[in-house]
Amino acid sequence: MGQPLRILTIIGARPQIIKAAAISHAIRTGFQDRIRETLLHTGQHYDANMSQVFFDELGIPRADITLGVGSASHGVQTARMIEGVERVLQADEHDVVLLYGDTNSTLAGAVAAAKLHVPVAHVEAGLRSFNKAMPEEINRIVCDHCSTWLFCPTATAVANLRREGFNMDTTRAPTADRPHVVESGDVMYDNSMRFAELATARSTVLQDQGLAPEGFILATVHRDHNTDDPVRINAIFSALLGLWRDHGLPVVLPVHPRTGKMMEQLLEPPLRDAVARNAGLHLLPPVGFLDMIALERAAKLVVTDSGGVQKEAYFFGKPVVVLRPETEWVELVERGQAVLADADQGRIASAAMSFLRDGVPRCPPIFGDGQAAQAICAALLRTF
Ligand code: UD1
Ligand code: UDP
Repeated sequence: MGQPLRILTIIGARPQIIKAAAISHAIRTGFQDRIRETLLHTGQHYDANMSQVFFDELGIPRADITLGVGSASHGVQTARMIEGVERVLQADEHDVVLLYGDTNSTLAGAVAAAKLHVPVAHVEAGLRSFNKAMPEEINRIVCDHCSTWLFCPTATAVANLRREGFNMDTTRAPTADRPHVVESGDVMYDNSMRFAELATARSTVLQDQGLAPEGFILATVHRDHNTDDPVRINAIFSALLGLWRDHGLPVVLPVHPRTGKMMEQLLEPPLRDAVARNAGLHLLPPVGFLDMIALERAAKLVVTDSGGVQKEAYFFGKPVVVLRPETEWVELVERGQAVLADADQGRIASAAMSFLRDGVPRCPPIFGDGQAAQAICAALLRTF
């Protein structure tokens, strides 16, 4: 057997750390002789409950390299990451740089690797919101167009890439100019299936918060478009209070640090007081993955602007009110599992009302078979 494939995996933000757990686990349990993974953490997220908790709970090995970049404007943060990743790639040889999703850590990894001609593998390729006002849309388009392997979670993602001119031929060895587009399934589905039982066994969040199964609404809010706009953030929090008032179901909201800061700055004082004092609104610090899965499994309804939380709600058969005008996960909307309500108080209320009355139909799986991580490792090895 030759030298193992040397993968440099770049993570930085919460959802990437969670996604990386799936492939890291697949390597350690099925490919340890053939793949050697080096883990680089950019430091984009750094609070213990935004980063370390996921290493501990999901059994991810300690990062081999940390850049400690932290928070800054898009340009400064991304530039620091590019500089750090470039240094690492120049110091040691890596066969592939593995990137997840659409954050500034993804963008930095793609730009640094592509310019040094190190092949890029992009997990969660092909997603499009068709809204370039989202920083994530820019990041994912650039990363896809720098990649040698594009691992798509869904058929829609493959179709998006075909429309952008990607060739679907995989008979010749992939290069940056002739990449392979592969429908691999979604590593988040792998994770949700793997950790669901453990979450039920270990998490005490429902007891701690006095929540009954099917007796509460789970909400998350963190997109800059929502948090940094005074009209939108006030409308969203008014709507969340309205859900408690109209249905008597407590609303549980693990608060992202960006959101916590912007609530202080932008909520109208009477609303801020009502939010802080209302017993029907459970504001929590960001929770670990096991608590999050336990909350998703037990909630009656999920209200979110998160990409990952939309899908996890679907995995556990929960309806989703999406606090955005569009979504990359269009399958959920097409199948009636999710409704786009934007930051519109009336639309949020009426979507929630319909879901609480009617529930959602069960749909066949659309995010693979829970083995996406193995499929990705096998595809990388096949072409080396
Ligand atoms: C980032 C991603 C977004 C992803 C989200 C996941 C980009 C452009 N955005 O958004 O796509 O959905 O992560 O959660 O990459 N902060 C802390 N502690 C932390 C991290 C952040 O206090 O550990 C605060 C800082 O004030 C920071 C702000 O949150 O300025 C925003 O963090 P940042 O990583 O820039 O963007 P997110 O909104 O987290
Ligand atoms: N998540 C978590 N704790 C929280 C909120 C979210 O563990 O308090 C998990 C969630 O289960 C999902 C991921 O974080 O796996 C989604 O990340 P986030 O919403 O921050 O980003 P997005 O998916 O929108 O990029």
